[in-house]
Amino acid sequence: MIRYGVIGCGAIHSVHCEALQNVEGAQLAAVYDIVPEKGQKASERFGVPAASSYEELFGLVDAVTVCVPSGLHADVGVKAAEAGKHVLVEKPIDVTVEAAKRLIEACKTAGVKLGTISQHRFSDAVRKLHDAAQSGEFGTLLEGDAYIKWYRTQKYYDSGDWRGTWKLDGGGCLINQGVHYIDMIQWIMGGVKSVQAQVRTAAHDIEVEDIATALVEYKNGAIGVIQGSTSFYPGLAERLEVHGKYGSVILEGDKPKLWKIDAEAAAEGLYGGGVLMQPTPSLHLHDQEDVVAAAASDPTALWGEQHRLQIQDFTSAIIENREPAMTGTMALEPLKVILAIYESSRNGGARIEIK
Ligand SMILES: NC(=O)c1ccc[n+]([C@@H]2O[C@H](COP(=O)([O-])OP(=O)(O)OC[C@H]3O[C@@H](n4cnc5c(N)ncnc54)[C@H](O)[C@@H]3O)[C@@H](O)[C@H]2O)c1
Repeated sequence: MIRYGVIGCGAIHSVHCEALQNVEGAQLAAVYDIVPEKGQKASERFGVPAASSYEELFGLVDAVTVCVPSGLHADVGVKAAEAGKHVLVEKPIDVTVEAAKRLIEACKTAGVKLGTISQHRFSDAVRKLHDAAQSGEFGTLLEGDAYIKWYRTQKYYDSGDWRGTWKLDGGGCLINQGVHYIDMIQWIMGGVKSVQAQVRTAAHDIEVEDIATALVEYKNGAIGVIQGSTSFYPGLAERLEVHGKYGSVILEGDKPKLWKIDAEAAAEGLYGGGVLMQPTPSLHLHDQEDVVAAAASDPTALWGEQHRLQIQDFTSAIIENREPAMTGTMALEPLKVILAIYESSRNGGARIEIK
């Protein structure tokens, strides 16, 4: 049994604690929050001790999940690694490449596993789309788009001192909310080469961006669009759209809305065989409830199963002494893309290469 401690008992901690109660080979052993009352509350809810210090926590566990504000992920993760604990950090890995690399190095030196949450990679449809794109099913990949048109109120940003700050959130709608889909589209398309972007703080009283649009060039020559927002009431279901020479796939809220890949039909006649002259049910404008994704306006709505799957993979990686499916190094990629988008926008939309 891998004994876990959950560090940071705010909004996301209960997803980790509940998942850990349902992961084979894992056991929730303790919780810790810098605010003792929050640790106490979680301790009562989940029936495990609330440690009163990091030292006490590290004495009780083999691994930690890090659920503190984003700009503290590396500081907390390094502490845990130096104490010999495996580290699973929430997304983003941290808010700067330097901090992320510091964490990666500390885990390597300590010989502990490092994973970063990107739970949507564990959705069946997303994995299937990734495999189809990377195995050449689409033929040449032409375009990959991610649209994350979500909504958060000013009250959301005011609900924590760190939210909407450069120092601890690292940015706004892209690095906090968009990071999931930016990670997925760059993973599906095989990596980003460069971006040209405009971001704005348009609808909230915050330091960071709440709308953003980027033109993306992928390493394989395909192009695409990344759009992120926390300003678009009522918040729409997030979409991934991938187009290749032989077809197109659209995922909305991790569910397939269109899956049409057919090399033969794509070469038929003047317009491609089996072209849909009438909208089919799957192409109709969706019912309003369908389009307005629960998670787009309420982040707690869809939490759970994908976190459990990722924590299961991380636990198995520890037990089998292999790398987890989502490593710290993999999490550097979406971070670099997001930071390049910010740099581009600061420079009037200049083309920024990802290094
Ligand atoms: N994967 C997802 O879908 C998802 C969803 C929400 C949040 N998150 C991520 O989880 C992290 C936390 O977000 P949240 O919304 O739960 O924030 P939150 O503000 O609700 O909770 C953060 C908690 O960390 C505690 N804390 C702060 N500094 C600490 C320290 N040094 N040591 C121990 N505890 C400390 C705070 O007291 C607070 O209870 C963020 O990085 C966020 O991006 C991920």
